[in-house]
Amino acid sequence: MDRSYQRIDVVEDLISTMTLEEKVGQMNQYTGFWDPTGPLPEGDEAIDKYEHLRSGLVGSMLNVIGAEETRSLQKIVVEESRLGIPLIFGYDVIHGLKTLSPIPLAEAASWDMEAIRKSAALAAREASAVGIHWTFAPMMDISRDARWGRVMEGAGEDPYLGSRVAAARVRGFQGEDLSAPNTIAACAKHFAAYGFAEAGRDYNTVDIGTVTLHNIALPPFKAAVDAGVATVMNGFNVLNGVPVTGDAYLQRDILKGRWGFDGFVVSDWASVGEMITHGFAADGADAAQKAVSAGCDMEMESRMFIRNLRQLVENGIVDEALLDDAVRRILTVKYNLGLFDDPYRYCDEQREANEVFAPAYREVVRDMARKSIVLLKNERNLLPLKQEGQRVAVIGPFIDDDSSPLGSWRKAADDHTAVTLKEGLMPYGNVEWIFEKGLDLLMEERVWTLETKINTTDRSSFPAAIDAAKSADVVLLAMGEHGFQSAEGRSRVNIELPGLQQELIEEILKVNQNVILLLHTGRPLDIVWASENVPAILLVWQLGTESGNAIADVVMGKYNPAGKLPMGFPRHVGQMPLYYNHYNTGRPVNTQNIEDFVFWSHYGDVENDALFPFGHGLSYTTFEYANLNVNASGDVIEIEVEVQNTGNVDGEEVIQLYIRDEVASVVRPVRELKAFDKVSIPAGESEVIQFSLPKASLGFYDGRGEYRFEPGFFQFMVGGSSDTALNTRLEVR
Ligand code: GLC
Repeated sequence: MDRSYQRIDVVEDLISTMTLEEKVGQMNQYTGFWDPTGPLPEGDEAIDKYEHLRSGLVGSMLNVIGAEETRSLQKIVVEESRLGIPLIFGYDVIHGLKTLSPIPLAEAASWDMEAIRKSAALAAREASAVGIHWTFAPMMDISRDARWGRVMEGAGEDPYLGSRVAAARVRGFQGEDLSAPNTIAACAKHFAAYGFAEAGRDYNTVDIGTVTLHNIALPPFKAAVDAGVATVMNGFNVLNGVPVTGDAYLQRDILKGRWGFDGFVVSDWASVGEMITHGFAADGADAAQKAVSAGCDMEMESRMFIRNLRQLVENGIVDEALLDDAVRRILTVKYNLGLFDDPYRYCDEQREANEVFAPAYREVVRDMARKSIVLLKNERNLLPLKQEGQRVAVIGPFIDDDSSPLGSWRKAADDHTAVTLKEGLMPYGNVEWIFEKGLDLLMEERVWTLETKINTTDRSSFPAAIDAAKSADVVLLAMGEHGFQSAEGRSRVNIELPGLQQELIEEILKVNQNVILLLHTGRPLDIVWASENVPAILLVWQLGTESGNAIADVVMGKYNPAGKLPMGFPRHVGQMPLYYNHYNTGRPVNTQNIEDFVFWSHYGDVENDALFPFGHGLSYTTFEYANLNVNASGDVIEIEVEVQNTGNVDGEEVIQLYIRDEVASVVRPVRELKAFDKVSIPAGESEVIQFSLPKASLGFYDGRGEYRFEPGFFQFMVGGSSDTALNTRLEVR
């Protein structure tokens, strides 16, 4: 059959011939047969998924992987169901399939959009080689709360950086041609505001105003839609009393209406059925009706659509036109993927054998990993290590950990496939290395509920580590949180170094002052003590497959770190939610300048600001900013600044531009990131950096969600961190 029809013909022809049951089938997604990523609905064993496949009652499957496995299921649907509409296979390819990049929060720290795009393109290439058409990524939930385990999956606290990263990742996954066999459909998730879960507790209530919703939570999704994202996933949370899965304002008015999104919306796992638990739907039929009416086109694994939609349409409760719209969107994405031309395009066993975990990928993820590392502190220029003649003790639970650096959102990647820190350092043979773990972080290997397994008693290896530190010129401490302590379902109220690590650091510092902390983590941690006592701190996140090599590249000075924090590090977890783009309040400072004056917005026991703020990151060189000039010409604000590399090594700097709208009809943040430029500046040289900011970008969304620019005085700040003091003021009409 000639498949060269225009897409409209293929899709409309199919819709005109589909039965009501087959339409519902396209809106139904089942998980694979062994690997759920959420709670399975009751009665799961009662259904015969194979029978449903043959009857055209399944439009998509997730958690199926492998050219052979996907081919066998696709064959059933294409050859045995009445219309042979191909399945679309989805999978959580969050930061790679088997060859892993750094966790997304780490990638965001690179502020390098081309590197991030390449990383996503690599993930798409590897995923499509195992039959996957669609990834449930990028996650773009802005979050201001390090207690939330899923901060590791997003791009941090800022909507502008989050928007740039979202667009780069969508373009990486989808490429220029979605029908190409090495690109996959992306999915902007979770729509919307899931990262504002109260108290940072996963799946918890979200209650934010429209000003925050429109200015902070939604921009990354708009950027993803503008970048052509093929799908959107809604979410588990309620937003201001309405489950987002059943929220027509979000899905129909904003996403599909105002933004013109023409892809499809998939529910999150069981989020349709969970509207009953939320108390928003009375039963399955009510949940199905509310979800499809609100703009949810496909249901992931709670079976409300497949069990109820047909009857709802036959009883005149749901208009069949809603199903036609959903099916049109789903079939269009399948068509754009080329699945109607060749349903087996992604089922190539030979390609799978050649392209999965291919050695050629390693340099891409190693480069991404290096760029994600953030130098938080470097007193006495302890870093980089000299390459010869030093005796270096390497201590901590992560010195030979080949799994934690992979993070926990890596369903298809195999344990023990990360290059360890030890493996990364050993090739530097002119250094005398001593490796002593000093402690195990867990009392047993990879367990699902980690917090109960953290080692809080076994100090038996402390003495050997302390002796190693005593005898060394420098100590590298590989410490932090375990790879399975962040991601979905892993919120924590205690974000200090888990277990006995703090104790060991204090013992080490008693015998050696030249200590460098290599901080492994999926989230900002409370490292206040270390920031005051450890001379150097390198944030090495969870860097993926090439972790050990990338850390060694930076520690040994082969790569000069340039990462900047996408999320501030707190002074105490009690500061949460913590964010740099906060409002001024009516009492921002101690106006009386007397010590016991308390009537201003502060804590009595910790400063208001972050320990290490958004945008912070050092280099092995230093940069100085001068000659900031701003002027308005027509509808563009021209900003110019001179940046000098005042050190003796070449380096890269992320030059950040913030604004402050001094007076507006809704209060505006004390500073907002509006642009950045990552530039390489040779030692001793200067660059003049220019930004052209459209006047409209100085605007904001008001309480009705309407965008507006209001003339007046604006401040413009430029620097290498959000706490930059370089500032100038301009009236913009
Ligand atoms: C999970 C996550 C979602 C993921 C989906 C499929 O519960 O919330 O991000 O894509 O289910 O695994």
